[in-house]
Amino acid sequence: MKQGNLLYTGKAKSVYRTDIKGKLIVEFRDDITAFDGGKKDVLANKGSYNAEVSAFIFEYLGKNGVKTHFVKMLDPRRMIVRELSMIPLEVIVRNVAAGSIVRNLPFREGTELDPPVIVIDLKDDSRHDPMLNDDLIVALGLATPGEIKKMKGIALEINRLLADLLSMQGITLVDFKIEFGRQGKTIYLGDEISMDSMRLWDRKTGESLDKDVYRFDKGDVLKVYDSVMKRIAHPTTKTAKK
Ligand code: ATP
Ligand code: TYD
Repeated sequence: MKQGNLLYTGKAKSVYRTDIKGKLIVEFRDDITAFDGGKKDVLANKGSYNAEVSAFIFEYLGKNGVKTHFVKMLDPRRMIVRELSMIPLEVIVRNVAAGSIVRNLPFREGTELDPPVIVIDLKDDSRHDPMLNDDLIVALGLATPGEIKKMKGIALEINRLLADLLSMQGITLVDFKIEFGRQGKTIYLGDEISMDSMRLWDRKTGESLDKDVYRFDKGDVLKVYDSVMKRIAHPTTKTAKK
């Protein structure tokens, strides 16, 4: 497969066409950003840690019946994916109150959310990703009621599978963000699931194991990403297939 023209460049990944119709290459760059791009850095190898974790998680979800865009890795930072028509929504699943819901709503950080809470934001940095509801999503023409139900169902299933996987490595899945896209009428999980898009806490120490280390200068981000990558993608106990 040959890498073709650059189709899109985001804050942390670049997407390229390929010589095969319907397949794209996603390159995980070493850029790291926070606060709508207000804080930015380049950290050597950061892209490959996120790519490896994403690929491992996509394969794990795929084996457990979740339809994902992942095809295969080309090298440590580039993956081949199915080309999707992306739905501009950020679907966030929360098991523990942290981050924006603590800043914006009267939740105390660390409160367990059972059942998990799904929040859907509009993917639009210029508007600071405002929170939507089902009626707004339909009124904006972004998804049908049936598609919203489907995405929420898949999001909860992913939450269950991921929380199990991480729990076996002593990691609490606090929350995570996913994006979906369509190919024809089928909805696939797209984008990434990595330390940039999950909020992870060490079960024993409570330490952050994700991009919060960068957001709030809590330590050596690369060291944390490397150790989380090893805990998730090279686990000491066999957890990859349920
Ligand atoms: P954010 O960091 O908020 O996710 P971004 O757009 O800057 O936003 P990047 O991850 O840097 O994000 O860019 C990747 C882009 O590729 C995103 O716009 C994402 O929606 C898109 N994308 C991901 N998977 C696919 C796919 N399978 N087909 C087409 N586009 C995709
Ligand atoms: P959230 O608490 O809403 O925002 P913040 O990280 O600014 O406190 O984030 C919830 C989860 O979703 C968290 O794990 C990070 C992830 N996320 C993204 O990956 N991209 C985004 O644009 C947003 C808003 C969240």
